[in-house]
Amino acid sequence: MPQIAIVLFGAEDIRGRVEELGRQISSDYAGRAPVLVSVLKGGSVFLADLFRQIDLPVRVDFMSISAYGAGSEASGGVVRIMKDLDQDIGGEHVIVVEDIIDTGLTLSYLLATLQARQPASIEVCTLLDKSVRRIAPLEIRYRGFDCPDRYVVGYGLDHGERFRNLPLILAVEDPGRLAADPDALVPFLEAIPTPAAQ
Ligand code: IMP
Ligand code: MG
Repeated sequence: MPQIAIVLFGAEDIRGRVEELGRQISSDYAGRAPVLVSVLKGGSVFLADLFRQIDLPVRVDFMSISAYGAGSEASGGVVRIMKDLDQDIGGEHVIVVEDIIDTGLTLSYLLATLQARQPASIEVCTLLDKSVRRIAPLEIRYRGFDCPDRYVVGYGLDHGERFRNLPLILAVEDPGRLAADPDALVPFLEAIPTPAAQ
């Protein structure tokens, strides 16, 4: 049987890259107090690590959205806001922190919504950029890694709400097998020499 997954980005690779992004943001926003906006739930793991690497009086806020219909391509990215930001972002320097940008449809809709609230500036920081899948053109100021067109899980990214707690990112070679048996990844995870098991 073919391998069910491969390790795409290890915990150390992620840690190193997150530190670099934190340093970059700290230097770009020196003298300012940006608001990091995270889209629940996937982006929350990256946000938690990233914002501890930012040496500024940074604030965080969260949004939760739900796609209409069967995913972003079917809905054209139109989403319903299930939980809005607590803070008014008018006049603020906003950085939207995402786990992964795929077609970009969801994020471009969200950016238009946030832009209407007249922040002083708005930029995007994503850990993974599945750039080959992009439909909606987006300017991404900060990106962790370019991501191949594969189904990925771990470090916030889920499959049926599972695997968000993995400290690394896996590319699932056979998503059909995982859909049929959510435990199919367990032996693979147990063979990795990190505290990665579920
Ligand atoms: P899009 O950019 O509008 O296509 O949607 C991006 C969203 O799709 C992300 O925030 C994730 O929730 C989800 N997503 C895209 N690719 C993956 C993946 O490979 N694994 C898990 N979730 C994904
Ligand atoms: Mg997401």
